[in-house]
Amino acid sequence: MTRFLVTGTAGFIGFHLARRLLADGHAVVGFDAITDYYDPRLKRARHALLEQFAGFRPVIARLEDEAALRKAADLAAPEVVIHLAAQAGVRYSIEAPHAYIGHNVVGSFNLLEVVRGVRPRHLLLASTSSVYGGGPTPFRETDRVDWPITLYAATKKAMEAMAHSYAHLWRIPTTCFRFFTVYGPWGRPDMALFKFVDAMLAGRPVELYGQGDMRRDFTYVDDLVEAVVRLVDRAPRQGAPVMVEDGADSLSPVAPWRAVNIAGGMPVGLQDFVAAIEHATGRRAERILLPMQPGDIRETHADHRLLAALTGYRPATPVAEGVRHFVDWYLDYSGAHAARAS
Ligand SMILES: NC(=O)c1ccc[n+]([C@@H]2O[C@H](COP(=O)([O-])OP(=O)(O)OC[C@H]3O[C@@H](n4cnc5c(N)ncnc54)[C@H](O)[C@@H]3O)[C@@H](O)[C@H]2O)c1
Repeated sequence: MTRFLVTGTAGFIGFHLARRLLADGHAVVGFDAITDYYDPRLKRARHALLEQFAGFRPVIARLEDEAALRKAADLAAPEVVIHLAAQAGVRYSIEAPHAYIGHNVVGSFNLLEVVRGVRPRHLLLASTSSVYGGGPTPFRETDRVDWPITLYAATKKAMEAMAHSYAHLWRIPTTCFRFFTVYGPWGRPDMALFKFVDAMLAGRPVELYGQGDMRRDFTYVDDLVEAVVRLVDRAPRQGAPVMVEDGADSLSPVAPWRAVNIAGGMPVGLQDFVAAIEHATGRRAERILLPMQPGDIRETHADHRLLAALTGYRPATPVAEGVRHFVDWYLDYSGAHAARAS
């Protein structure tokens, strides 16, 4: 049994990760403010499921409240800290930039300050494929990530850099995950899959940006959780790079810090993604093709070799299968929701 402090447990990814850790018999203190970026009822429903496990203790507070974070850390006495809470979303960062500085920069800084006193054996933080900007694909962890094209990416890059300095100064083994378009049951209402299924089942058209000519390295959430769980026991040791076939380790030369892509390296076109939804819902999508949005990039594609070298694992759930699981959950959840509301 390992003691974990996980931030963002009422969120999409944090919920799935915490549920897996609890099912495996670990103790989890889950820190989340249940922000209203999207329907808080969905977040509460996720937490309610986690609360069925005896090993789960929720703390509802903001990352900006350093004293509350410190209390949560005291409660958890964590051996491993996993930081997922953040203001997510690329497009919203153009509308509401302040939220990203508060949650992602100040919030992550507070977390680092608390973790410095706790000295876990491993700190793992959620970064994003967006740090690669519009660079050449496949994105490799050793690529330069110096030209973010959205404030969301800039705040995640700032978190990676701050964490590197703490890893160096306080010798905290640190892994920064770079997640790529994660999808699955209990997913986020602001993301394409949720929006498309919602629209198609209600007979509304779906809006495809970039004239539908975009590709994403979609990652099924259970695959991501498997990768993360395996990485927990792969804390970086300074000066101990792993062998990566035809690739390179991103291990820092001065600190026990590395970045790792979490994705299968198999991008799928947006039109094929919609076709998978059509198949799973049995509805035809009326497509409205729109130009690229500010901050969008045409393709994300991960180099998955470092993850494979570290864990022996490559995310591989086919989109058709993952989308089917989402649609099953959506029908169940929205049905239960409608029944409760009436
Ligand atoms: N879902 C993806 O495709 C994806 C891709 C790349 C990176 N990420 C990153 O992965 C992490 C998890 O993403 P998600 O999809 O689960 O998002 P999410 O929005 O569902 O979850 C984030 C959670 O953090 C909480 N939170 C936000 N700000 C907070 C604050 N200031 N204090 C306390 N709690 C706060 C929210 O209430 C929410 O429950 C985030 O860091 C996100 O940036 C996600």
